This record gives sequence, C-alpha cells and structure tokens, in this order.
Amino acid sequence: MSQELVQILFSRPDQASDKCEVPFSGVERSAPAGKTFYIETFGCQMNVHDSEKVAGALTAKGYRAASNCESADLVLYNTCSIREKAAQKVFTRLGTLKKSQREDQTIGVLGCVAQQEGERIFGRAPHVSLVCGSASYPRLGELIDRLAAGERRVTGLSLDTEDCFETEFTRRDNPFRAYITIIEGCDKSCSYCVVPGTRGPERSRPADRILSEARRLVGAGYTEIQLLGQTVNSYRDPSPARLTFTELLLRVAEITGLKRLRFTTSHPSDFTSDIVRAIEISPVLCDHIHLPVQCGSNRVLARMRRSYTREEYLEHVSCIRSAKRAISISSDVIVGFCGETEEDFEETLSLLDLVDYDQVFSFKYSPRPNTRAGRWENSVPEEEKGRRLAALQERQRQIQLRRNQALIGQELDVLVEAFQPKLGQSVGRTSSNRIVNFPGEAAWAGRYMKVCVTAAGPNSLVGARAEAV
Ligand code: 5AD
Ligand code: SF4
Repeated sequence: MSQELVQILFSRPDQASDKCEVPFSGVERSAPAGKTFYIETFGCQMNVHDSEKVAGALTAKGYRAASNCESADLVLYNTCSIREKAAQKVFTRLGTLKKSQREDQTIGVLGCVAQQEGERIFGRAPHVSLVCGSASYPRLGELIDRLAAGERRVTGLSLDTEDCFETEFTRRDNPFRAYITIIEGCDKSCSYCVVPGTRGPERSRPADRILSEARRLVGAGYTEIQLLGQTVNSYRDPSPARLTFTELLLRVAEITGLKRLRFTTSHPSDFTSDIVRAIEISPVLCDHIHLPVQCGSNRVLARMRRSYTREEYLEHVSCIRSAKRAISISSDVIVGFCGETEEDFEETLSLLDLVDYDQVFSFKYSPRPNTRAGRWENSVPEEEKGRRLAALQERQRQIQLRRNQALIGQELDVLVEAFQPKLGQSVGRTSSNRIVNFPGEAAWAGRYMKVCVTAAGPNSLVGARAEAV
C-alpha cells in the first residue's frame, strides 16, 4: 500500500487526507498577477481544515496553488506542537528550505508552533517573515498585504479574540468528506496540553452559518460531512436559536442528500446521553464516537485535570453500548504521564478491556512548554514509556482483531474512498469508521456499496462487493 494511502486511511479521526479542489466564486483579487502559494500541513484535522480555509482565502486574493514549495512565491507551514517531535518537524523543514530559498520567496509559519514560539521563530529562522497563530487567521489577508507592501516581518499572535475564521472560499482537499468547524479553541485545562494556549478560548460558530455551509456543501455534491472542534460537544450556539450540540447534529443530519455525518473530538465531561439518542434516531449520523479517555487511573486523570473519573467515563461507555444500534468507540491514550506508576498503567490496560474499544490512538507523554505539567518532573524514563506503549498497543491489537473478526459474514455499507491499481482493490470506510479492502474499480470512488466481510485484521477488514446501494 502506498505511503499516501496509508496516511489517508489509517490516520487518527482528526488527521490528513488527499487532494482535490472544489471551485469557489465571488473572488476578490489583490495579489500581484501570477503569484503562487504552497502550504504544508502538520498535525490534526483542525489544522488540515484551517489550511483548506487559508488556501481558499489566498485563492480569493488572486494567488494560485503551486505544485511544490520550491516554485511557490509564498510558502506556508501550518504547524503542530502537541508533542515535541511534531513541533521539531517545522524547524527541520525551514532548515532544508533555507538552502534552496529564492530571494523573492516569502516564508510563513502558521498554527500552534507559530503561536507558541512567536517572534522567537525569527531568531531561529531569519528567513521567515510571517508568524501567525490560528486565532489570528481572520487577519491573515491583511498581514500578507503588509508584506507585499514592503514590511520585512509581520506577526498575528493575539489570542484575545471572539472571532472564528470565517471564509466563503475554503478550498476543500478531500473529495468525499467535507470538514466544517463548529467550535474553535478550548476552555479545558488539561495539564499536559498546549491547545488552550495555542488556539485560544472556546468560540462557537452561530448555528445558522454552520447549517448554510452544510447545505452549500451537500448542494456541491458532498455526501459526508464531519463537524470539527477540539471539544466538539462543548458547542454552545451563540445565535438567538441557541441550538444544543445534539439539536445541531439533527438539523445538519436532516439536509436532503447528506448520507453521513460525523463529529470529532468529543470530551467526556460534556458527553450527554442525548448524543446517543440522536444517533439512534438518525441513520445519517455515523455509528462512531471518538471519546478520548487519556488514562484509566483516577489518580492520573486528576493530575491531568481531565475533570472526570474512570467511573464517570465508563458510565458514558455503558450509555453508548446500550444504544439500539452498535456504535463503535475510539479513544486517545497517553502513557508515561508524570508520576504514572505501574499500577496506574495497569488500570489503563484494564480500562481497554472493559471498554473493548474499536480503535485507540496512543502516545508517549511529551512534556510541553507553557503547560502545567511541563514544569513537573517527567518521572517515567523514555525506555519505560516505550515499554508501556508497546504493551498497550499489543493489548489493543488483540481487542481490535477479535472485534473485527466478529464482523466476518456481515454486509456493511461502505463509502469507497480510494483505489489501489496494483492490487485491483477498492478501499472504503464503514459508518463505524472501519477500513474495508475489496476487489474493485477506480471508477467506484465516491460511491456507497454493500460489502460482505470475508476476513479481518486488527486494523482493517477484507470483503467482497455484495451489491450497489
Ligand atoms: N504528550 C503526548 N500526547 C499528547 N496529547 C496531547 N498532548 C500530549 C502530550 N503533551 C495527545 C492526547 C490528545 C491527542 C490529540 O494528543 O491524547 O487527545
Ligand atoms: Fe487539549 Fe484537553 Fe483541550 Fe483536548 S480538551 S484540546 S486535550 S486541553
């Protein structure tokens, strides 16, 4: 399987996808004729979608997309700083680009590293002239105009905002799934996490704007929409309609022509049973909930400031498991957090068994600057973190294998997302977010098909087409 395909299909529910452009209209042009841009995106789905919006805003200013960074007049890196490795990547890229940089090429750093490092980036990489965090994207056009007018360096670093990044010109990169941000920023204060400091306070978009964007996308041919937010279910409609998160889900789901609606990431503290009821009522709502637990030990959860206990989390799981149709549950887990003992870790393993997750994304704890825990002793040695991560992944691999094998013989609805010519295989996704490989054709991409499961591995299913749906 190609590296690109692996990335599309096995990424965390909030990670990158492939490229295809959707046309836009009403363009307001101010870029010097023929200027081009190139954006490289690191990190989560929120970043992927932010880049789609930035690309749209630049195109509206008259820029054209370049096929590589060497040929682009404006190179932007949309960065992630959730773990140290991710944050380092951008400096590696900047170092490589410096060697080949043309004199007239403008380089900008966007996203979480931009917000976190601010003007220090100019010291470390003097060839950068734009540094802008996501809360300042509404001002990005103005910052780029100032550079074009001759300013050497510009920054957008204020977090004091009530605005969301609204643009009509989003250039969507995934041909099948359209992302819509419904809430930006985060008001939680998990002690390990940079996001509240890099994305700013929680801001929900008015429901009518979300609904009109969703209608426009379905009108343009999208059949799957994914609503995005760091804590998507903390959504609070600021408009007079005051829709709850669940009401918003149901209103989007009733748009004629929409076949699948997903949402990510849900926070356990704001999880309510009416989300499960909504999934029961509406067949358009996918049977999958991403509900990160982070750890199975109450002692560690308290130090992480996750604001729920293991028992409260398990109550949400029981509620999801009692639904009239099966709903898959996925999670994020951090191992080796400050002070995590062997007993704490064992509690995480036992929680995996109790929940019987369909998928788990697991990470070694990475101490981050400007976080509470970043000042604490990083007490678990790297080697031990590695051992715990491997043990957890092996336990979860067995759980997933068993759960996937239980699906053999069943017919599942699959949205075909890709084709692997060398293998003659179509690759699709079930409503429960499982990957299915089956003999197919390139022309099937974008179609919904019934596929009978014939074999199963821990990370994907194998099947045969039953009939077109
Ligand atoms: N170290 C390791 N993993 C982290 N995450 C967030 N912050 C850190 C950190 N400092 C993980 C959490 C979160 C996911 C997006 O990244 O599991 O849910
Ligand atoms: Fe980070 Fe916690 Fe907010 Fe998630 S809820 S983005 S882990 S602070």
